[in-house]
Amino acid sequence: MERIKIKKLLSSDKPIEQVLFKGWVRTRRDAKSFSFIEVNDGSCLKNIQVIADETIPHYTDIQKITTGSAVSVTGKLIESKGKGQRWEVAAENVQIISIAPENFPLQKKRHSDEFLRTIAHLRPRTNKYGAAFRIRSELAFTIHKFFNDKGFRYIHTPIITGSDCEGAGELFRVTTLNAGESDFDQDFFGKESNLTVSGQLSAEMFALSLGDVYTFGPTFRAENSNTSRHVAEFWMVEPEMSFCDLSGNMSFAEEMVKNLTVGILDRCAEDIELFARFVDKTLMATLENLISSDFVQLPYSEALKILEKTTEKFDYEVGFGKDLQSEHERYLTEKYFKKPVIVYDYPKQIKPFYMRLNDDDKTVAAMDVLVPRIGEIIGGSQREERLDVLETRMTASELPVDQYWWYLDSRRYGTVPHSGFGMGFERFLMMLTGISNIRDVIPFPRTPNTIDF
Ligand code: 4AD
Ligand code: MG
Repeated sequence: MERIKIKKLLSSDKPIEQVLFKGWVRTRRDAKSFSFIEVNDGSCLKNIQVIADETIPHYTDIQKITTGSAVSVTGKLIESKGKGQRWEVAAENVQIISIAPENFPLQKKRHSDEFLRTIAHLRPRTNKYGAAFRIRSELAFTIHKFFNDKGFRYIHTPIITGSDCEGAGELFRVTTLNAGESDFDQDFFGKESNLTVSGQLSAEMFALSLGDVYTFGPTFRAENSNTSRHVAEFWMVEPEMSFCDLSGNMSFAEEMVKNLTVGILDRCAEDIELFARFVDKTLMATLENLISSDFVQLPYSEALKILEKTTEKFDYEVGFGKDLQSEHERYLTEKYFKKPVIVYDYPKQIKPFYMRLNDDDKTVAAMDVLVPRIGEIIGGSQREERLDVLETRMTASELPVDQYWWYLDSRRYGTVPHSGFGMGFERFLMMLTGISNIRDVIPFPRTPNTIDF
């Protein structure tokens, strides 16, 4: 007999004479001549209730089954007499695959997120984290589907690179040299190499040949920011579009955010509901507001005016040439506009070299999508397509211009206006679930001084 997933069992529209499924025991309790076993196999949030009566084989062994144990069950899928579930399984045989000792850390009670982070290898067996990681998986799929439906090509940009896209110097070095050696000629690649902070520069080359492309993969930043919104290894979705200006880029970002949110509400309704009930009571309202409202498009200079006028107290000062901090971003989205805001045309000195210089010579065609509770989820721009302007900015940013010869070539041969952005995959998951710490939406988070698991 073929094993069936519990998700499929629970969505059956009729009783089934014989089923086989396997999973982990969440709880077991004994009644007079029965044992009720709640089994979960990770395919969905709900458990299936198994009723093992004393007449089935090895009943005394079944009574020893503990939380966390693994079992294989055959029996009949029948209408449940109990309330709270439609189906249950009348077991014919419960085979014990393995027994978990009594010290299994996930006994039935509520555990704090902090504690669960210390057992990140086991936390996906809880309701909350099982749901979070199913949503994560569905979101990745929904992203690929969205781009594929729109005719975008998926580009696998390199993870080891010799360039620093953001120019922020937050690089993890990749080397085969021994400690103390620093002659990069002798190193594996014959030059300094690092883990990528963004696939953008490579994606641009492909946008200028295949048209609309995207890259979606892990990126790495050695930022020493111990915040609830930064990790050292995170995933980024980066579309890059030829013949597209800043305005087209902003509308596309808005369309994508809405489309992915609708997709997840549809595909993950049961898991999202768990977050709406237990993690963030305002989640549904926030997401519905996001889907139905037009995002505000606000020049950076206007954002400054709003922030300078308010009586709200901030830890960080605002002023032209200073980057917006998360507290400012949250004020704009949560209190002032009460919806997502796209801030654009930032001062050139706080943005990387590749962003297109505006006619005022002071700002660049940058845009950040800000959402309530999180702040920035997307950063992007129209790219500088004019060779001379780009070279000037690269020199001013003290970049090793000759090493970017290949990037500059794209502005020599058939250069066109093009734009793109990067969406933090984990930040987006935080928005979808109401989870407030980025460490809780990624399986094994990498942050300063933690590399367990
Ligand atoms: O704004 P960022 O730095 O943009 C870029 O890297 C561009 N090259 C992208 C592009 O235009 N193709 O990063 C993009 C997004 C941020 O808005 C944020 O959501 C996320 O990546 N992000 C992080 N997420 C988690 N941990 C970190 N340390 C992050 N740094 C950025
Ligand atoms: Mg940014």
